Amino acid sequence: MAKCRICGGAVDEFFDFGRQPVSDSFVTPETAGSEFYFRLAAGVCTNCTMVQLLEEVPREQMFHEDYPYRSSGSSVMHRHFEAFAHRLLETDLAGDDPFIVEIGSNDGTMLKTVQKAGVRHLGVDPSAQVGDFARADGVRVRTAFFEDATAREIAASDGPADVIFSANTTSHIPYMDSIFRGVDALLASDGVLVLEDRYLGSIMEQNAFDQIYDEHFYLFSVSSVRAMAQTFGFELVDVEPLTVHGGSMRYTIARPGKRSPSTTMTELLARERAQGLASPQTYQRFAAGVRRSCGELMDLLKDLRAQGRTVVGYGATAKSATVINYCGIGPELVPFICDSTEAKQGRLTPGSHIPVRPPAAFSEPYPDYALLFAWNHVEEIMAKEQGFRDAGGKWILYVPEVHVV
Ligand code: SAH
Ligand code: TYD
Ligand code: ZN
Repeated sequence: MAKCRICGGAVDEFFDFGRQPVSDSFVTPETAGSEFYFRLAAGVCTNCTMVQLLEEVPREQMFHEDYPYRSSGSSVMHRHFEAFAHRLLETDLAGDDPFIVEIGSNDGTMLKTVQKAGVRHLGVDPSAQVGDFARADGVRVRTAFFEDATAREIAASDGPADVIFSANTTSHIPYMDSIFRGVDALLASDGVLVLEDRYLGSIMEQNAFDQIYDEHFYLFSVSSVRAMAQTFGFELVDVEPLTVHGGSMRYTIARPGKRSPSTTMTELLARERAQGLASPQTYQRFAAGVRRSCGELMDLLKDLRAQGRTVVGYGATAKSATVINYCGIGPELVPFICDSTEAKQGRLTPGSHIPVRPPAAFSEPYPDYALLFAWNHVEEIMAKEQGFRDAGGKWILYVPEVHVV
């Protein structure tokens, strides 16, 4: 059995998606075929309950100059981060000359608000282009992987951080031992490490199997993050359920004994036990759900093609790589995918090589059906594309199950 990357316990594999390409490697017609492949399989630690991948992709294959994801692509996410930045400015960043470090600052969507308030900050992100977007907004960014050594250098040059924030990034980092050593070197004695990420409980409940892909090395729960914090000498003190990305959780971690644990945390730990997040049956049920969803989705797409109906994809998400390549969706079923990210437009999806086109292509003319790969942004996208529905178009979703609306 594989060993847990957090605690060294035995990891029980529950799903093998087979050979999969790096999810954000949108290739050009010239570079198609050069994608890096690995075995995408997920398991759960029988000791600390951390859900994790069994094979790690070298980080430079995922996060580099060309990394295309932009946090600012969703106005909901923009407002979400803006609101949280304001909350931090009124609480943990309200003291004398506060300092915040963000791990995975991307295009600066969150730090922009901090910068405008004139508060000392530093974003750390290895992907060079996203950093340039942030810098254009006046955000201070260091193009680097956050880890032990980076954190020590920041501590030496900028002093201790009152807040270390990281959204949808620490789950991408297998080497959590180095991260926590870095946090230990950088965090002020009464500072907080705030993490937010897609929540395992929601993923299991909604059978959101596409949340499993290379970048999501871990799927966090309250139970596993609590164990992780403890393993590396910290303490989980508070949690806050969030609606973004189809169900997320915000975790507040402090040095041991510095803050008293909240009742919400205790309640959620009990709920996770009741939901069976530590039980093998839950993962077997999930595995059966993945096979069922894929089978139903492929049947539906093939039926529509047989009836001569047109289908276009919407949202060239990283998570769509899992659905597309595992289920076997190619350009013959979905001829193109619309996406608002300039860096993805004109490119081909990893593995399946489905062209990505700007949203303007959606109405030229509207297809009969749209397969919503960005289902986590369903409200925002449906509101934006009301014209599609007015023209008689129908949306296909596969979370929590395959359905047409
Ligand atoms: N925080 C943003 C971006 C998430 S995408 C949001 O929630 O929308 C994940 C980001 O993490 C990418 O920009 C990637 O380049 C960055 N990343 C990956 N490994 C990292 C590491 N070790 N240190 C800092 N950033 C990292
Ligand atoms: P997202 O689901 O946030 O993340 P991931 O890539 O990690 O799965 O990606 C959303 C994608 O959908 C992104 O490429 C931008 C695109 N998008 C649109 O094209 N239009 C929209 O209105 C929104 C909100 C997103
Ligand atoms: Zn473990």
